[in-house]
Amino acid sequence: MSDIASASLKELDDIRVRYLGRKGRLTAVLRSLGTLPAQERPVVGKLANQIRQAIEEGLEKKWAEERVYIDTRLREESVDITLPGRKVILGKKHIITQAIDEIIQIFVGLGYNMVEGPEIETDYYNFTALNTPPDHPARTLQATFYVEAGGDSESDRRGTLPREEQVLLRTHTSPVQIRVMEKTKPPIYVIAPGRVYRPDVPDPSHSPMFHQVEGFAVDKRITFGDLKGTLEAFARRMFGSDRRVRFRPHYFPFTEPSAEVDVSCIVCGGEGCRVCSYTGWLEILGAGMIDPNVFKEVNYDPEKVTGFAFGMAPDRIAMLKYGITDIRMFFENDLRFLKQF
Ligand code: PHE
Repeated sequence: MSDIASASLKELDDIRVRYLGRKGRLTAVLRSLGTLPAQERPVVGKLANQIRQAIEEGLEKKWAEERVYIDTRLREESVDITLPGRKVILGKKHIITQAIDEIIQIFVGLGYNMVEGPEIETDYYNFTALNTPPDHPARTLQATFYVEAGGDSESDRRGTLPREEQVLLRTHTSPVQIRVMEKTKPPIYVIAPGRVYRPDVPDPSHSPMFHQVEGFAVDKRITFGDLKGTLEAFARRMFGSDRRVRFRPHYFPFTEPSAEVDVSCIVCGGEGCRVCSYTGWLEILGAGMIDPNVFKEVNYDPEKVTGFAFGMAPDRIAMLKYGITDIRMFFENDLRFLKQF
């Protein structure tokens, strides 16, 4: 449309210049009137004026049409700048992603590197290498989704595969410890976030998929004191400068000694409230010193290096922090819920 409109405007102008302009043909005729014999002047002059009038009238008419067209378009395409603007809805990070980002940032600030491992693992990385051989009673602590291995032959499938090659959805992020140690030499300071899976029936505190952030350090002369200091520094940065941590003896196959770690309640600060069941403490981590058997599995010499490891669930941290009482809300993707964070 606008092409045609501007082309015809240009055409009109070309015609005007060609005939009526300073160097126009008709202008030239009118100028040369003086050179004509006297009796021809009135005739040619009159004719030239008639032609000029005809061209001018024609042009005026076309211009008028052009103006109507332009006016109509201006009217139709006008924008009412007094209308309120349309709101642009900005997306944002999911609350769990926000919590994970916050945790990672704190550890990156302490010199840790972020690493990710596969969600589909083998039995070896998820259990055996983590000092949990087949038939170890600790296997029952983490019920597991087994996956049919890909591949063409029946022997590739679960049941006929050797136990260690069986494929599963990782039940925790600890297999990342093995994958990193296999490939690198100490000193190692790694933080590893990701999804984990356990066949739990969904209820307010269980979801078959949730998240963990694993952290571990392997170096010369790393002590339990380093673990305490690191988690204390983390708790202060994450929850507030007056937070304290408390270690309670626990059991994990891949750490010795092992502990469950409490932080003074992130809601009441330790005075006692509904969130901490009036104990003043919230359990948010599992941790311990990496078991020598785990080091042997990746050909590290447990006489030369030591290390600690810890794991936490950002889902649980976010629930405690915001008073969310049902873990399933994180994964229902109801914008009315997610928009609040
Ligand atoms: N992997 C453990 C769990 O899922 C948590 C943990 C990680 C414990 C690292 C100790 C050290 O329960």
